[in-house]
Amino acid sequence: MRILIISGNESFRQSVQAACLRYEHAVVTIRTADSIGQGLDLAVQIEAQIVFVDLTRNLEAGLLAISQLAEVKNRMVVASIDKMTTEIMARAIRAGAQEILSQPPQEEEVDEILVKVGRMLNSTDNSQPPREGKVIVCFSSKGGVGKTTVSCNLANILARRLGPGRVVLIDANTQAPNVAPMLDLRPEHWLRDCIQEYRRLDSDMLREMTTHHEASGLDVLAHSADNPLGLDFTEDQLSKILLVAKGTYDYIIVDTFPLLSSLNLAVMDLSDDIFLITEGVVPAIRSAHYNLKMLEQAGYGHSRIKVVLNRYTKFRGNVTPDLISETLNWPISHVLPYDVHATIAANNGQAVVDMFPDQKLTLALSMLADDVMGIKTPVEEPNILQQLFYRVRAALT
Ligand SMILES: Nc1ncnc2c1ncn2[C@@H]1O[C@H](COP(=O)(O)OP(=O)(O)OP(=O)(O)O)[C@@H](O)[C@H]1O
Ligand SMILES: [Mg+2]
Repeated sequence: MRILIISGNESFRQSVQAACLRYEHAVVTIRTADSIGQGLDLAVQIEAQIVFVDLTRNLEAGLLAISQLAEVKNRMVVASIDKMTTEIMARAIRAGAQEILSQPPQEEEVDEILVKVGRMLNSTDNSQPPREGKVIVCFSSKGGVGKTTVSCNLANILARRLGPGRVVLIDANTQAPNVAPMLDLRPEHWLRDCIQEYRRLDSDMLREMTTHHEASGLDVLAHSADNPLGLDFTEDQLSKILLVAKGTYDYIIVDTFPLLSSLNLAVMDLSDDIFLITEGVVPAIRSAHYNLKMLEQAGYGHSRIKVVLNRYTKFRGNVTPDLISETLNWPISHVLPYDVHATIAANNGQAVVDMFPDQKLTLALSMLADDVMGIKTPVEEPNILQQLFYRVRAALT
């Protein structure tokens, strides 16, 4: 549910935001604006489904904004003002507000409004395009832990399973993009072209901007390594691209730059699963611990953040996944083994799951894909003979 709060009053914005974050029946994405002009722009960019408009500072401009915002059919506009009178209420309703929120805002009232919007969105009479694709973001604020490896391979497996045109991989590593070389692609269009055209971006245009990965059927929205720093764009432009992608593909996998930035938070805001990638070494664990704390404060919980322990090797003296989980105070959802084939594949411009379909890392990545698709896989450890076979083959290849 995409929510926008427009108010010049910080405490109003904060209390409505806090009440929305406690809503349990849907994933919520919240943006706030402290001016009406900024709010009207944001409403378009995030295709807001519910907009709270505080009329306190400027009644006339606020009413005008309500009438503009209410033109979108399946959007609910909620009016609020510090001193509500029957006359203002009547004018707000005539302008198009469907609900009135008293001040200071009460959590139960906000909750009731969100329940109503939930019902409205489930009705068949829906005029904003449905945005139902699942967004999965691979993140860590530590560099080099395997975000690109996991996102390329996960997207690859999903695309193979679902068929061409159903999965897109977006390279949102704005500083050091690596997806195109990792999959040996030579794109003609880039993320920056989408950013430039974001106001008129639709599904057809988005598909045209992607590069097709023949081996898997995956569509890739690549980011150019040429002067990536010269690209100046906002989180809301990126959100718009993600929203269009959600209306175009079944799965949207996003690779990120290793920083807890507003750009990455905007991606996480629209995501269903956040795979926090880490390694079993102290700096990476410390960074994951910090990230979890920050993300938890931002309102993301256990249902959304899944920790992936990458490059794991079992040897005496190494920290175990259980110990890492205890340190992080978060369950480890997936353990991906250390596997030299990951590097060999990357150097060959291939996904490891394509080049080495029988390796343990491929199996672990398939289980990650099962998790994304909601498939429960029984964990089947290879028996001693299979392990021996894998080792001999690995030594020979
Ligand atoms: N499970 C694994 N076993 C062995 N090597 C791996 C594994 N996963 C990733 N690697 C290797 O680690 C290196 C870094 O991986 P990758 O580029 O995916 O990290 P990243 O987090 O995307 O880095 P950056 O933060 O720079 O974007 C690559 O050489 C990759 O082949
Ligand atoms: Mg990377």
